[in-house]
Amino acid sequence: MSNIREVIINQNTDLNPIWIMRQAGRYLPEFREIRKQNPNFINLCLNKKLSAEITLQPLQRFDLDAAIIFSDILMLPFGLGQEVEFKKNFGPLLGRLDLGEISKINETDFVQKILPVYEAINIVSNHPLIKNKSTIGFVGAPWTLLVYMINQKSPKLKLKNDFFKDKPLINKTLILLEKFLKIHIKNQIENGADVIQIFDSWAGLLETKDLPNYAYIPTLNLVEFVKSKGIPVICFPRGIRDYKSYCEIVKPNAICIDYEVDPIKIIKEIKIPVQGGMDPKILLSDKENLKKEAKKYLDIFKDHPYIFNLGHGVLPETDPNMMDYLVKMVKDY
Ligand code: CP3
Repeated sequence: MSNIREVIINQNTDLNPIWIMRQAGRYLPEFREIRKQNPNFINLCLNKKLSAEITLQPLQRFDLDAAIIFSDILMLPFGLGQEVEFKKNFGPLLGRLDLGEISKINETDFVQKILPVYEAINIVSNHPLIKNKSTIGFVGAPWTLLVYMINQKSPKLKLKNDFFKDKPLINKTLILLEKFLKIHIKNQIENGADVIQIFDSWAGLLETKDLPNYAYIPTLNLVEFVKSKGIPVICFPRGIRDYKSYCEIVKPNAICIDYEVDPIKIIKEIKIPVQGGMDPKILLSDKENLKKEAKKYLDIFKDHPYIFNLGHGVLPETDPNMMDYLVKMVKDY
């Protein structure tokens, strides 16, 4: 069994597995080289050979315990027929959400449209580099996808005042999202994903009163679906603040924490395996500071099932040598 599954399933506290969110990406020169030749990000995600190659790039360099498939949470709205593009120095830009259009799509069309994502997972999970390691499949949580589909771009710090004005649109979209997210998860698992992570990157924008309807219940439905397939599921409700209630209600197999929450509070409150936490900006400082900060997390979670990761994605300005240092340090701890 992979070290990550050992920690999640058997609650092993002797292993210190590590993988990094956005471990394949712009901080690696070999990624930037491929990206330069492939200006259309969606097309790159739909190129099974290149996306498998990019997925494996960080594992060629570092002794990471998992590959996370090079794709994007926005491949789901793309598969539903909403326009999605990634603009340089801006981020994702989506077309208008047309419920009539996205309601027309059926399972076969959806799977066909993003088939290379599953084929890439198949290539990666059968690759010799992944022997005894995990292949992580992922989805965006319904709430975070809803935010992108309605807002049509990243919301930054807050939602538009009229975000909730069209309740029927929101409710119908959430129902569609649940259906197609399950299809997306199922296909990733059937092609070799042995862990699923659910990214709720904009959970922190919800007011407490809205958490049940938009974060807890929709994610719980997916968590139960993944568990029914016999696969462990990690949830990352970034910025949620009250991780304790989230874990008690949503019941993931492991919880990924962001860098704004105090890990000492987490260790006191949370019984399930924990992942992540360290601020990605620490990798922009020096080795001494990196060692001190990484050790802080390893010390706090010494007797708790813990998977080392950051509290959000690795920053594009990160020096790959710092990543190398971090991975070795965690392994030698
Ligand atoms: O982690 C990995 O290495 C796997 C691949 C992965 C990507 N996106 C590739 C990517 C994963 C797991 C994601 C998840 C994702 N995508 C999230 C959830 C995690 C988070 O960051 O909160 C979100 C919100 C998105 C949506 C998204 N995709 C945004 C906001 C952006 C633009 C911002 C940015 O970092 O450029 C993307 C683009 C994107 N997704 C890139 C990569 C490598 C950069 C594309 C480029 O090369 O220009």
